[in-house]
Amino acid sequence: MNTQKLIDTAKALVAADKGLLAMDESIPTCNERFARLGIPQTEETRRAYREWVMTTPALGECISGAILCAEAIRQEKMDGTPFAKAIANDDMIPGVKVDSGAKDMAGHPGEKITESLDGLQGRLAEYFRLGARFAKWRAVFAVGEGIPSRDCIEANTQLLARCAALCQEVGLVPVVEPEVLMDGAHTLERCGEATEEILRTMFSQLYNERVMLEGTLLVPNMVLPGSTCPTQNTVNEVADATVKCLLRAAPAAVPGIAFLSGGQSGELATARLNAMNVRFKSRLPWALAFSFARAIQQPALDIWRGKQANVLAAQQELYHRAWCNRAARSGTYEVAMEK
Ligand code: G3H
Repeated sequence: MNTQKLIDTAKALVAADKGLLAMDESIPTCNERFARLGIPQTEETRRAYREWVMTTPALGECISGAILCAEAIRQEKMDGTPFAKAIANDDMIPGVKVDSGAKDMAGHPGEKITESLDGLQGRLAEYFRLGARFAKWRAVFAVGEGIPSRDCIEANTQLLARCAALCQEVGLVPVVEPEVLMDGAHTLERCGEATEEILRTMFSQLYNERVMLEGTLLVPNMVLPGSTCPTQNTVNEVADATVKCLLRAAPAAVPGIAFLSGGQSGELATARLNAMNVRFKSRLPWALAFSFARAIQQPALDIWRGKQANVLAAQQELYHRAWCNRAARSGTYEVAMEK
């Protein structure tokens, strides 16, 4: 393991107020988003979509790293350039999602488990050869009556930690993504409790697996009320609850924390990240960044709708969201920028 390279890559992923673009939707998720907009659900349309996303002019000014799915890391641009190489050519670091999705957890109604360790070591080595320098594993946790259960938290975080250890062994920075889902009527406080318990457990598992935290990134949810909770908290309340939770549970050795958007609108996710940096940036041990998929890509996808004639306008929208999020990292985002 080249410890210094892992540390340098992890730091580079959260440097210069940039963040990650999670363009790693699985094939079913991508197809679902295409279907809603009447876009054909073929390997070629998914490839074409990814090509215009990653070739958005000047994207590397705001995006430090782009995450591909297993299908995409083997795809190429029309001119034959492999996607991972194209990303690197544009000053971004290529990454890859290495889990194969969350499945129902046996004996645990309403809960999911991400299990994809079989053959992972070989896949990670292949991804490194293909150009990836970081790798993401996502686990999801629903909030409800009696859930997330202790079993679900322990099983999922152990798998996250095993994957992280394997990643570092082959030279990939692990991006650990435990996501508390927004679905439901739970309060912000309940989300905070669940997130804190999950993060504390996960970091203990990472310690057990001897994962080097300086060469690891955390991609958590923000602490939010459930999407149908009658009380929808203010931007500042979300910022305060999220930072409070992270200060309790995320070790200072981690160089960066990059939030997922989890179904928030692009503008709200940006405003909340901005508020955290305005209120706390100078006092935090880690950088607070973004690793958004929907909050950066969805508005652009809505413009594209599978039509070549819309690519330029879609790329402009994608760049705009990435640019707003870079501003949010420095705490200089303003709603007026949306105009
Ligand atoms: O796996 C999900 C991505 O890492 C983040 O996606 O920003 O749409 O929640 P999202």
